[in-house]
Amino acid sequence: MYRINTNYQKLPGSYLFSTIAKKVAAYTEANPDKTIIRLGIGDVTQPLTDPVIKALHKAVDEMADGATFRGYAPDLGYAFLRETIAENDFKARGCNIEADEIFVSDGAKCDSGNIQELFAADSRIAVCDPVYPVYVDSNVMAGRTGSYDPETGYWSDVIYMPCTEENGFVASLPNEMPDIIYLCFPNNPTGAAIKKAQLQEWVDYALKNGCVIIYDAAYEAYISEADVPHSIYECEGARECAIEIRSFSKNAGFTGLRLGYTVVPKDLTCGGASLRDMWARRHGTKYNGAPYIVQRAGEACYTEEGKASIRELVGYYMENAKTIHDGLKSLGYTVYGGVNSPYIWLKTPDGMSSWEFFDYLLDKAGVVGTPGSGFGPNGEGFFRLTAFGTHENSEAALKRIADL
Ligand code: MLT
Repeated sequence: MYRINTNYQKLPGSYLFSTIAKKVAAYTEANPDKTIIRLGIGDVTQPLTDPVIKALHKAVDEMADGATFRGYAPDLGYAFLRETIAENDFKARGCNIEADEIFVSDGAKCDSGNIQELFAADSRIAVCDPVYPVYVDSNVMAGRTGSYDPETGYWSDVIYMPCTEENGFVASLPNEMPDIIYLCFPNNPTGAAIKKAQLQEWVDYALKNGCVIIYDAAYEAYISEADVPHSIYECEGARECAIEIRSFSKNAGFTGLRLGYTVVPKDLTCGGASLRDMWARRHGTKYNGAPYIVQRAGEACYTEEGKASIRELVGYYMENAKTIHDGLKSLGYTVYGGVNSPYIWLKTPDGMSSWEFFDYLLDKAGVVGTPGSGFGPNGEGFFRLTAFGTHENSEAALKRIADL
């Protein structure tokens, strides 16, 4: 008789954004006359840019012609894309990353969930609190997190690194020794950015203690300040201790198209084993590559025209971030993020819990956000709004909040 992976049964509730979607669906059904403004999940609203659309059309035409048709993509990604990424995202920033250290995938979410497969079952993970839920949930599924305490919201075997107003939402080095450290900067959900000197401390710590850092840089395109690193490989020694995950979703609007990549440098070895080779082996066995047409669309993001179009897209969302951030501030809210990030992280008013504020905002203003406590206990009393809406919706949401 078969048995199931009982680790799944340890997971509390459903995935955060599925829970929110269900709540909003129930509200919409009960209130069909009310219009909802969705600033919850970080999903983009602006169409794909011209260079991307042109590249997609061209690639589709190639697929319609026997002379240029492509079957299976190389499972690590097409060389044309990997080489372009290495040049533009890394070498241009002084980071020594080669094309054969880049693994193209169908998105950062899958990579950040799957990467834990490379590590021993009894590895200890350290995560920021609050944190993007995928890092913890994927380790729960792998049986690495111990038991869940519904009272505190903590897993017994996870090391939590509090991100609070006091530390500017940038965690301090952990008190206990982890094996795997998850960092995400610019941060989801708090919108905080890390300075290069601060990130170097993490790299030094990992090198000294034999830890690996999984660095999620999905929001890199939103960095606007000069001393904020775009890649962990800007730090000395990071090639020996860090994996970096990137996305085309938030910069180029590929949430529906799906494209991302992970960098596993050749210098990252453990007991003589190359993590790069292990990840390549995994890709070879479990993955058939992102679609050709999508990889061509990704390549188009790096032409001069493509880069300009991405700057424009990011600029569009950052205008929303400013509208929401400054607007809430002028209404008396305590607000963070929104400067190097498309996320605005606000303190709930009048001591409301995160979920109380979620219900209040949905019911009274028809605005959907994300409760901070959904990202971890230290998110309690906070709330996340995304800048990925339209200008009209961002302004309308602010007006509705002002009218409360
Ligand atoms: C979020 O809202 O936190 C993100 O959209 C989730 C994701 O990118 O998977």
